[in-house]
Amino acid sequence: MEINLNNRVALVTGATGQLGRVMVRTLSRCGAAVAIHTRSNPAVAAELLQELTSNGASGCIVQGDVGDLDQMTAMGERIRSVLGAPDIVVTNAVSQIFPWRTVLEEDPADYADQFRTCVLQNVHAAKVFVPAMVEKKWGRFIGINTECTIQTLETQSAYVSGKKGMDGVLRVLAREVGPAGVTVNQVAPGWTISFRDRENGTEDQPDYTKHVPLRRRGTDQDVANAVAFLASDLAGFITGAFLPVNGGNTIPC
Ligand SMILES: NC(=O)c1ccc[n+]([C@@H]2O[C@H](COP(=O)([O-])OP(=O)(O)OC[C@H]3O[C@@H](n4cnc5c(N)ncnc54)[C@H](OP(=O)(O)O)[C@@H]3O)[C@@H](O)[C@H]2O)c1
Repeated sequence: MEINLNNRVALVTGATGQLGRVMVRTLSRCGAAVAIHTRSNPAVAAELLQELTSNGASGCIVQGDVGDLDQMTAMGERIRSVLGAPDIVVTNAVSQIFPWRTVLEEDPADYADQFRTCVLQNVHAAKVFVPAMVEKKWGRFIGINTECTIQTLETQSAYVSGKKGMDGVLRVLAREVGPAGVTVNQVAPGWTISFRDRENGTEDQPDYTKHVPLRRRGTDQDVANAVAFLASDLAGFITGAFLPVNGGNTIPC
């Protein structure tokens, strides 16, 4: 058995970020033509596209703000004209708030910001991309959530409120489009090792991993592997799932 995404078109939002670029490479290696989305990093998007095409794969670049329906619509039109309508959509982009603050200290604007990139991104992507999946009677919508949604730890309220809202949208969407053969799932990474940690030598975080049953941090590839599986025919009977990829860090009591 193998994960075969030949003849599939995929979109990864936030594809030039830490986890997105590995999702792009992985979906491409599985055979998909991948639309690489960036908001403000066209140079990295171009490098990624070059990497795909030099391996004989197809792809394209789309740029825009996922919180804006008109920009998502324009991205959809471009992907359709270059690669065809996406069969697989991975909503991975997120606006990063730094530093996180307590509810009493967090700026109310930060909650609105998280609502835009977590909730509205998914609403916009559903409106723009799911109708063609429904028509084709095959589609994979994969939202990238976070273990923080389960943990609800101090200072995470803006991020968690956005991601919990996204979770609500996607669980309902799974019910609504399931009859048309479209699955909607979420992957929820833990604190994940990416190129940034590898460059900075910050992979080891013992205070975090001592609580993780598998005693390590996940990698960007661990997350991308789960995305590739959910994107494939092998996951055709899974929908509405919220899959933590965090070494068991949030095993329910
Ligand atoms: N990294 C982790 O340890 C971790 C853990 C749990 C969950 N996650 C989840 O995994 C996903 C990826 O995280 P990451 O660490 O890879 O994040 P990241 O490196 O910050 O990448 C996120 C990307 O989102 C894009 N973006 C932000 N606001 C946008 C907007 N309004 N419109 C369009 N694009 C926008 C940015 O694109 P530009 O650079 O082009 O502006 C950025 O590259 C997120 O959903 C995050 O919540 C990550």
